[in-house]
Amino acid sequence: MTANRGIIGPDFTSGTLGVHSLDTFSFSVPDLAKANEFHKSFGLVTRVRDNTLELLTEGSDHVWGTVTEGSRKALSYLSFGIYEEDLERFKLHLKSNNIRQIDPPPGLESNGIWVRDFEGTLVELKVGAKSSPDEKSHGLMMSSAPGVAGAPKRSAGGIVMPTRMSHILLFTSDVDQAVNFYTRVFGLGLSDRAGSDIAFLHGRHGSDHHMIAFVKSTAPGIHHTSWDVPSIHQVGLGAMSMADKGYAEGWGLGRHVLGSNYFHYIRDPWGSYAEYSCDMDYIPRDMQWNAGDHDGEDAFYIWGPQPPADFGVNHEVV
Ligand SMILES: [Fe+2]
Repeated sequence: MTANRGIIGPDFTSGTLGVHSLDTFSFSVPDLAKANEFHKSFGLVTRVRDNTLELLTEGSDHVWGTVTEGSRKALSYLSFGIYEEDLERFKLHLKSNNIRQIDPPPGLESNGIWVRDFEGTLVELKVGAKSSPDEKSHGLMMSSAPGVAGAPKRSAGGIVMPTRMSHILLFTSDVDQAVNFYTRVFGLGLSDRAGSDIAFLHGRHGSDHHMIAFVKSTAPGIHHTSWDVPSIHQVGLGAMSMADKGYAEGWGLGRHVLGSNYFHYIRDPWGSYAEYSCDMDYIPRDMQWNAGDHDGEDAFYIWGPQPPADFGVNHEVV
């Protein structure tokens, strides 16, 4: 059992203003070709436009992430999706919270609202279609009937292609301030936390248990992006396939407690991770979810191997 240090309770009232999706994340790397190779191997659809690598999932036009070339791996910005009818409300809300609107980054075509969060990270709010799921992803138990062999031969295992982004885990210098800022300013809901070490936030219009989470470091950065696959089989197959392609470092197979998802993290060339995830808890629209404050050790993972010693290191700290 997870040792609960306390139930925090819902802070949601119907009609609360809130972003509906994490629309896009963006980061820089010193070698765009390496980033392309890694994400393509992971099972994402990639395309290069104007020296920017775009990350998509099979069968969708949604650009979940963009990668640009820079001197080092670094988080560039986050873009949250909002409903059109909330645009003016958000402008007034930001003003009443003394959050100054700023220009978009140079060279970026955008008519969204741009601000900086409490530690300087660029965040955009833009009108767009809801890309977070409207219901819990349907898991697929790939069993077989009696008398039928269920597993394919290894050579026929196929390739794993995530269906959508699930969430992003960011490093922050202050988890308490991150929770305060992202719930108060962007209307996200607290799902669960482990004191001031890590906190998980969901979208109030229906989302996975976390669409964004924050873990303690000394500065902002990306710990991992997470991608939904439909079965534990695909979590394992994806990890094996990545190992075959030279990306053997990571952590998994395991199951988290907070969010309940099965996971395997694959280490990218810059020390952060891409996660295969399946069967994460879902928090429906308008649900009064009771957030808990948990003992971190007891709530990190219910089973799995020991994580790598440097799993919590923020390689973006200079
Ligand atoms: Fe994750």
